[in-house]
Amino acid sequence: MIHLTDKDTKMPLKYDENSKNKNFSEVTDNDDLQYTIASSVEDFNFNKQASLDDLFDELLLSNSIFKNKEFLRHTYTPEILPHRKNEIQKLASILVSAVKGEIPSNIFVYGKTGTGKTVVVKYVGNGLVKKVGGKAFLKTSPTIDCNTGLPKPDLSANLKMNMPITFIYINCEVVDTQYRLLSKLSEYFGQSVPLTGWPTDKIYDVFSQSLDSEKKLVIIILDEVDQLFKKGGDDVLYNLTRINSDLENAKVSIIGISNDLKFIEFLDPRVRSSLGEEEIIFPPYDAPQLMDILEDRSKISFNDSVINPGVIPLCAAFAAQEHGDARRALDLLRTAGEIAERQNAKKVMEPHVRIAKDRIEQDRVSEVIKTLPTQSKLILYSVYLLEKYMPGEIITGDVFNIYKDLSNILKLDILTQRRVSDLISELDMLGILNAKVVSKGRYGRTREISLGVTPTQIKSLLENDFKIKKVSSYVPPIQHKLV
Ligand SMILES: Nc1ncnc2c1ncn2[C@@H]1O[C@H](COP(=O)(O)OP(=O)(O)OP(=O)(O)O)[C@@H](O)[C@H]1O
Ligand SMILES: [Mg+2]
Repeated sequence: MIHLTDKDTKMPLKYDENSKNKNFSEVTDNDDLQYTIASSVEDFNFNKQASLDDLFDELLLSNSIFKNKEFLRHTYTPEILPHRKNEIQKLASILVSAVKGEIPSNIFVYGKTGTGKTVVVKYVGNGLVKKVGGKAFLKTSPTIDCNTGLPKPDLSANLKMNMPITFIYINCEVVDTQYRLLSKLSEYFGQSVPLTGWPTDKIYDVFSQSLDSEKKLVIIILDEVDQLFKKGGDDVLYNLTRINSDLENAKVSIIGISNDLKFIEFLDPRVRSSLGEEEIIFPPYDAPQLMDILEDRSKISFNDSVINPGVIPLCAAFAAQEHGDARRALDLLRTAGEIAERQNAKKVMEPHVRIAKDRIEQDRVSEVIKTLPTQSKLILYSVYLLEKYMPGEIITGDVFNIYKDLSNILKLDILTQRRVSDLISELDMLGILNAKVVSKGRYGRTREISLGVTPTQIKSLLENDFKIKKVSSYVPPIQHKLV
């Protein structure tokens, strides 16, 4: 069913099936059918077709902002990585022993999010494989030639050496258990393993045998390795860092990457020392460095002179505030460009960046809220209800009272007040709640809690959750407020 309006009058029109002439008449308030004006069904279809063609033409012609948006995507590995010379050099100087036929030390790479850890490791890995031959399972998009916009040919297969290198990139956010990791790795060496069911030692044996089938050096990149540890403990890391003693032909070297700086402290000391034989720390970028990164990318992804001079400094400044995150800077620039494009603007201007910033922030918050565990959602919803029905100071005890009621209605286990307090701190860290410690004089210290995002956003996101929906008519009784 097609809903269109009369182009001239903007008045919605409907098709009258019963009329002999098959004319269209105005839509009344009760009608939900809206068709374009036409004297016959054929005419109608023709008009429909023509207007869609026009629309595509218009959209294609108006696309004057981007030259090639692909260069702004996260998966694109640039040919030059400004301000990462030291890190590239350090990594290359450790991995170069592979060229000499030695096993490189295991490396632990860490730094905050968006500091270029993944891109640098893949970049150096690709470079090494190109130099010495071997295979790179790095899941990067092919390097694109900036002049032609086409993928560059991969020459790595042409070079050979005695001890070929296999680079394997694993994202442990996806492959997050010992079982999954070992079965995924076995797959790379042609051994398929059932998705579940085998005991760990069996899968470990199958993996090490498939790995050891020929002489090679295998460099395994475990990106977001903290996720593997959180789900599977450090057994798998312990096993992997010791696997060389079980192998005769192949040798393994591990590069662990993490943005969780505390994670290494929780590892078994033996794993810590073998995984962190070498450590490379990626410092955050400052605003001028982010500007250089953005300048380079914008030249290949935007058309000439479409970016107002203040745009890149503004994107860089916003991203520098967010702990120097290059991903955030690139997202801001891309989103600002998309907004300008949609508005049919000739140039990307500073206001587009500000709108992009709000939109990215909203998307982030929505994503975080949607994926919270139910208990945290209930705590957040309790704060929302308190702000809605009982304006004034909110303390942990108030939240706990409402939370208890909601959990009872939903027949969920009730967490202790202590645990609820911890979850409030986590929501505070995520920026969804504000929990400010205030001194109450002789009554000691307490935390004042408030929403960190708009109530409208909380309401629309949480009341869409099927469990929360069941308590959406709940109104907190007055005695639940302690102050
Ligand atoms: N020096 C650089 N030059 C060009 N682009 C860069 C540079 N550093 C990072 N980037 C780009 O910024 C984005 C984020 O980088 P990357 O994914 O490597 O960050 P990360 O440190 O691995 O972050 P996380 O810890 O969140 O995984 C990518 O799109 C990457 O291409
Ligand atoms: Mg990364």
